[in-house]
Formats: sequence, structure tokens, C-alpha cells
Amino acid sequence: MEGPVGDRSTKKILQVLDGEPVWPLPIWVMRQAGRYLPEYRETRAKAGSFLDLCYTPQLAAEVTLQPIRRFNFDAAILFSDILVIPHALGQNVSFVENEGPKLEPIVEQTDLNRIAEELPIERLDPVFETLDRLKTALPKETTLLGFCGAPWTVASYMIAGKGTPDQAPARLKAYRDPAFMEALIDRLVRASTAYLIRQIDAGAEAVQIFESFGSALPPALFERLSLDPIRRIVSGLKAARPQARAIVFVRGGGTHLAKFADEGIGDALALDWTLDPASALTNLPANVATQGNLDPLALVAGGKPMTAGIDRILNAVRGRPHIFNLGHGIVPETPVDHVQQMIDRVRGAGV
Ligand code: CP3
Repeated sequence: MEGPVGDRSTKKILQVLDGEPVWPLPIWVMRQAGRYLPEYRETRAKAGSFLDLCYTPQLAAEVTLQPIRRFNFDAAILFSDILVIPHALGQNVSFVENEGPKLEPIVEQTDLNRIAEELPIERLDPVFETLDRLKTALPKETTLLGFCGAPWTVASYMIAGKGTPDQAPARLKAYRDPAFMEALIDRLVRASTAYLIRQIDAGAEAVQIFESFGSALPPALFERLSLDPIRRIVSGLKAARPQARAIVFVRGGGTHLAKFADEGIGDALALDWTLDPASALTNLPANVATQGNLDPLALVAGGKPMTAGIDRILNAVRGRPHIFNLGHGIVPETPVDHVQQMIDRVRGAGV
């Protein structure tokens, strides 16, 4: 049950997650292992399909380590995908080149009856083996992160069978058939909690829950489909593994973040790139850790827009527990030297 070699005293991200301000800020980047890196594209080409890459521990560990070797980020995030959960439950999932995920849609209770009620966790053994390899391969200062998708985000892919504008099929389903939606979300809460517990046992020290489509829920549905399921996952994880730390990323969660903070859901709240960091922080208690939130496209642009965006964050969070990151995943067009410039600016920031 121990994490990588090294402990809290060497790991800045764990210190921030315990509410301690650390300066210069620790930094990692969502989707840091990905197509903007030439070495990722090379390994990806060798692996065959994207899912083969996720399920081959030696290759998945290799691509997880690539951004650490190149940039010495303060966290390594397990290389996998949020859609391994529906895949392990028995839904057909594939990744089509230049199109994204394709799933066989689950639209009725009869479809739901065809997939597993409880997560057959051994189907995810390659993921746990990847974590096991990583915990001995990482520098002792690097925090090892696991992750999963939040139930609403994963459900929206399961129902539509692909990415959809504003998640219309899942949202409509939530209005028309609340019982179905509740059953699906409930299944995902149980599967995700079991999955994260095993990730912690395999070596992850903290996890991030990705609610990428928080903005697609009106207030009347948000509490039931996003906040409450995330609360149940985090509390289930912590009840089983009290040492586990959780970062909650709700894209579009702006107005709801104070509620997550008030209810103590998560050790850190990630801010998306639409939020002004200073105003977001005025609505959160000073002891709540935060993460984010440079616009990924400011990083693509580089130069003044990038440095101004970084400084805006640094000025807003000084003295608070904060992890520097983007406000959403890094995009494939990102120049690698802009990433290094961003890191140098964050790590070189004067007191
Ligand atoms: O952060 C990391 O480096 C760890 C790995 C990671 C991936 N996906 C690898 C990946 C993580 C944490 C994810 C999470 C994920 N996957 C999310 C939530 C985060 C977010 O960005 O909002 C979502 C919505 C997915 C679903 C998904 N997977 C989509 C929509 C796509 C296709 C879009 C794209 O960028 O191509 C994927 C594929 C995927 N997952 C890639 C990577 C590196 C690219 C596939 C490739 O290499 O061909």
C-alpha cells in the first residue's frame, strides 16, 4: 500500500494537498503525456491502438515517464483513459484516429442489463501493473497521480457513444428517464470508487476526478448528477484509504466550486481556464487548495499572452496552497519549448 519511494517531506504536491502553501508552486499539466511530445508519438505508433497502449504496462509506464524525464514535473499522471471503466464493464469502446472515442451506445435499461453490475476489476490489472512499475521508476520528489472520469462525464459518452456538443443525448435522457440515469450513475460511482481504491493500493498517492462536462448541466441537475456522485466517490475512497488525496476538476464548475469547498469534497479544486484566478479564490476558504488554470491556447501562443497568463495566476495564488497547471488538457499543437518556458517562469518566480 505504500507509494513511490520518498514521502510527504519530499513531495510538494502532497504538501499542497494537505493545505500547505509551497513556493515556487509545484507544477504538472493535464494530458502531459500526449501528442505534443515527439517521443509519445513514437511510442504510440509502436503500440498499435490507443487501448493497446493503455493496457500494455511497459508502454503505458514509458509514456507516463516521458514528460517527467523531459520537464521534471512535480507529478506523474498514470497513462490511461477515463473510458477504460465502460470498457471493463463490458461496453464496446474504441478510439478512432482523428475522431476520438466510439462506444456502442447504452440508451435503455436493457442495454444497461447487458453490462456488468459490479466492476470486474481484474480486467484493469494492466493499469495497476503500470502504477506498480511507476512507483519504483519515479524520482522521490514526484507525486504519482491516478485518475478516473466523474460519473456524469463517463455516462455522457456511454449514452451518446461519442463526444457530443453540450452532451445533449445524455442531458435529454436525464430529464426523460431519471430512473435509468440514476441506475447508470450509481453503477459508475461504485465502479469508480473500487477502481480508485485499487489505484491507491497499486501506488497512486493522490487521484484526480475529471468532470470534463460540468458546464453541460443546469443547476437543477448538477447537484444530483455531478456534485453528489463525486462526493460519494471521494468519501468512499477516503473511508477505505484515509491517506489518499483527491483533486476534483469540474470544467464549467465555476459557480458550484464554493459548494465543493464548503462540503469538503476533495483536497484540491481545479479551476478551468474560463475563471479569473483572483475572483475564483475570493469565493473559496483560504485553506482550500486549488489547481490550474492557464488557458491551454495561451501556452500554444507563447510570448506575452503566455507570460501574462502565468503572472496573473502567480499573483492571485501567492501565499495559498496552489498547484500550477493548465485550465484543461494540453493540446497536440503545443510547442514543446513553450512548455519549458512556462515551467521556468513558474519555478523562477521570486517571492
Ligand atoms: O493526463 C495524462 O497525460 C494522462 C492520460 C489521460 C488521457 N486521457 C490520455 C489520452 C487522461 C487523464 C485522459 C482523460 C480523458 N479522456 C478525459 C478527461 C480530461 C479532459 O481532457 O477533459 C476525457 C474526456 C477523455 C476521453 C478521450 N480520450 C477523448 C475525448 C479522446 C480523444 C480526443 C483526443 O485528444 O484525441 C481520448 C484519447 C486520448 N486519451 C489521447 C490521450 C493521450 C489521444 C489519443 C491518441 O494518442 O491517439
